[in-house]
Amino acid sequence: MNEIRDLEQELMAAVRAAGDLAALEAVRVAALGKKGRVSELMKALGGMSAEERKTLGPLYNGLKDRLTDAITQRRQALEAAALAARLEAERVDVTLPVRGEPQGSIHPVSQVMDEVIEIFADMGFSVAEGPDIEDDFHNFAALNFPPGHPAREMHDTFYLEPNEAGERKLLRTHTSPVQIRTMMKQKPPVRIIAPGRTYRCDSDATHTPMFHQVEGLVIDRETHMGHLKGCLEAFARAFFEVELVEMRFRPSYFPFTEPSAEVDIGCAFKEGEIAFGEGDDWLEILGCGMVHPRVIANVGLDPNEYQGFAFGCGIDRLAMLKYGIPDLRQFFYSDVRWLRHYGFSALDIPALGQRGVQ
Ligand code: PHE
Repeated sequence: MNEIRDLEQELMAAVRAAGDLAALEAVRVAALGKKGRVSELMKALGGMSAEERKTLGPLYNGLKDRLTDAITQRRQALEAAALAARLEAERVDVTLPVRGEPQGSIHPVSQVMDEVIEIFADMGFSVAEGPDIEDDFHNFAALNFPPGHPAREMHDTFYLEPNEAGERKLLRTHTSPVQIRTMMKQKPPVRIIAPGRTYRCDSDATHTPMFHQVEGLVIDRETHMGHLKGCLEAFARAFFEVELVEMRFRPSYFPFTEPSAEVDIGCAFKEGEIAFGEGDDWLEILGCGMVHPRVIANVGLDPNEYQGFAFGCGIDRLAMLKYGIPDLRQFFYSDVRWLRHYGFSALDIPALGQRGVQ
């Protein structure tokens, strides 16, 4: 009898002393596992006389039950302590402010693209897209640049290696191929803008080999040059946020528009700064015109029924003018100091009339 009591005391002490779940499990196995000390006692009951079993059986069972209860309680206590320790270690103060200064900023080109899209969306235009790697048909032929046409040479095209069929793909030299892609899949009336990257082998303070344009295209039955002019003037007023922007329409030539014009915005370059709307310099920002009847026919529409206007505008040029950035090449140097100076806050949603340079 005393042995059983001693054993119980010893085992209970071991349960209390178990400092973690692994130690407690070791105590349980040593007592109640297959070869555990209590299990061995229970097994021995089988070889005893009925008399002995009657007295020892309840004692062993009592020991087993109390021990099992003690282990369960100890396990619950240890688990609760482990959880509390983990919660303490992983404590997060949700009332602390988020990272104070935002890192990184929106590039002026992205900002201006968003602004342009917003202005034209307000006028009922939707956004269309095309690939940067184009074929001759979309970039030139369908836009009324026949093979060998001298206007092809104005574009300083980057060509890719010819494929097995001998076709040379190219990096689009303007966003005008999106005009073709749109008219070939969408029935008029068409009212789209197509912002994106364009490429020409050219580099100086106002030219980079990769630059950005936004194409505009309106095709309907009664569109005329007055609509084009009114649309561009409304855009310039909204974009530059002034009542009057000095704009100059110069007669020009593009194979895919007739008549054609180039549009300059009045500006001044002084002391490494550029200011728009004043001074006697001009910066060309876009080419435009009435879509050439041959282009309308090339996409399978009837030029006697449909006409329209198109324009292609340099986004980087717009950014230079609006935000006073004198050298276009710096747009693409990824100089962190430049980006911090000219970049925009990610939270600065382009809402016209409410934004500002950081
Ligand atoms: N694609 C012409 C350019 O890049 C611009 C343009 C677009 C002109 C649409 C007329 C109409 O120079």
